[in-house]
Amino acid sequence: MQSAPNGIAEAFILGDEFIGHDSVSLILGDNIFYGRLDFFYHAIKNNHGATIFGYKVNDPERYGIVEFDKEGNVLSIEEKPEKPKTNYAVPGLYVYNNEVVKISKNLKPSPRGELEITDVNKEYLKQGTLRVEKIGRGVAWLDTGTPQSLLQASNFFGVIEDRQGLKVACLEEIAYRQNFIDKIKLQIAINEMPKSLYRTYLEKFIKETD
Ligand code: G1P
Repeated sequence: MQSAPNGIAEAFILGDEFIGHDSVSLILGDNIFYGRLDFFYHAIKNNHGATIFGYKVNDPERYGIVEFDKEGNVLSIEEKPEKPKTNYAVPGLYVYNNEVVKISKNLKPSPRGELEITDVNKEYLKQGTLRVEKIGRGVAWLDTGTPQSLLQASNFFGVIEDRQGLKVACLEEIAYRQNFIDKIKLQIAINEMPKSLYRTYLEKFIKETD
């Protein structure tokens, strides 16, 4: 638990014991990715220092922004710059080796009083171990950090769910399809749910599944 908004990088200090000697990946709770996530699995497999991502957006001043040279090497990363050098935002999905714990512990709070994830990435850049992979337009990256973007994300998923009759990110369905739980456990989970459209969806799902 983070008891005060001390910044994203505090996750690696609070999570120190959980991380142990492992590599680690962090996703921000208000970030949503929809589409083929191969770029992420590829990054987990191939990461050495840090791997972060670049996604073209219309409103770069709201995000961490990355600048590349012609060969695709990273020149700079800036947190919410007033005059962004590019339109490539850094989504809230990060892959790090274990060094991230030490780097986070050595950070100083930014002028807004937070341990900035951008400062972690800058340190990897300084050490020459930062990779930035561009995410193509086939993946939707949505952020729900403002009322407007939350509404946009709701509309986006509302349209897809209505069209397909399938839920996006229904955890019980995913767990069953991935064989994390069997049909009995799925039924128990459903039984524990209050009446809702979500429950009705799962009741229909379990009925139609053999
Ligand atoms: C944070 C990060 C920023 C990143 C963004 C993605 O911003 O600091 O670099 O681009 O998440 O959602 P914040 O949540 O502090 O606005």
